[in-house]
Amino acid sequence: MDHASFEVLEGEFVAIVGPSGCGKSTILNMIGGLVAPSAGAVLIDGTPVRDAAPRHVGYVFQKDTVLPWRTVARNIALGLEYRGVAGPERARRVREAITLAGLVGFEDAFPATLSGGMRQRVALMRTLVVDPEILLMDEPTRSRAPAPSTPTSCTPRASWARASGRSCAR
Ligand SMILES: Nc1ncnc2c1ncn2[C@@H]1O[C@H](COP(=O)(O)OP(=O)(O)OP(=O)(O)O)[C@@H](O)[C@H]1O
Ligand SMILES: [Mg+2]
Repeated sequence: MDHASFEVLEGEFVAIVGPSGCGKSTILNMIGGLVAPSAGAVLIDGTPVRDAAPRHVGYVFQKDTVLPWRTVARNIALGLEYRGVAGPERARRVREAITLAGLVGFEDAFPATLSGGMRQRVALMRTLVVDPEILLMDEPTRSRAPAPSTPTSCTPRASWARASGRSCAR
């Protein structure tokens, strides 16, 4: 990874496109604070990313990271648990996320019984439910067949619209 420099302004939706192995995930890992650049810096509002509050950044990883021993509802609740959101508020937000993701009826299902696209929507909702200011998504449509049944509320653009508070036409 060399000579990468760009700025993203509030409300922008930016896609990084390039061949396999060119460093797309590495860039996201650096923005998410998981990998430190050997040279240069990643700043959020002028603050080095390592010092920025974790609530700023939500990250949907390229690889499937849903926890196999947790149900759909408990996977989505994970980030809220870490942030200390409990009780009726947590239940309400998880329910809302499940509805948005078109996963009603699968609340108590375990990931092994879901399709790849459904698992991906669980991972997406687990990130969106904590309302991050910056949303990183690594190949969020890779296992999403362009099926007419895909909930429009769960597309990357719709996710961005929710995160940025903007409306979007599909
Ligand atoms: N943890 C690591 N340690 C060493 N090298 C790594 C590591 N992760 C990735 N790389 C290397 O960094 C380069 C960029 O990898 P990266 O995963 O960022 O590519 P990518 O653009 O996301 O590819 P893809 O489209 O296949 O997901 C590759 O050459 C890869 O082998
Ligand atoms: Mg990648």
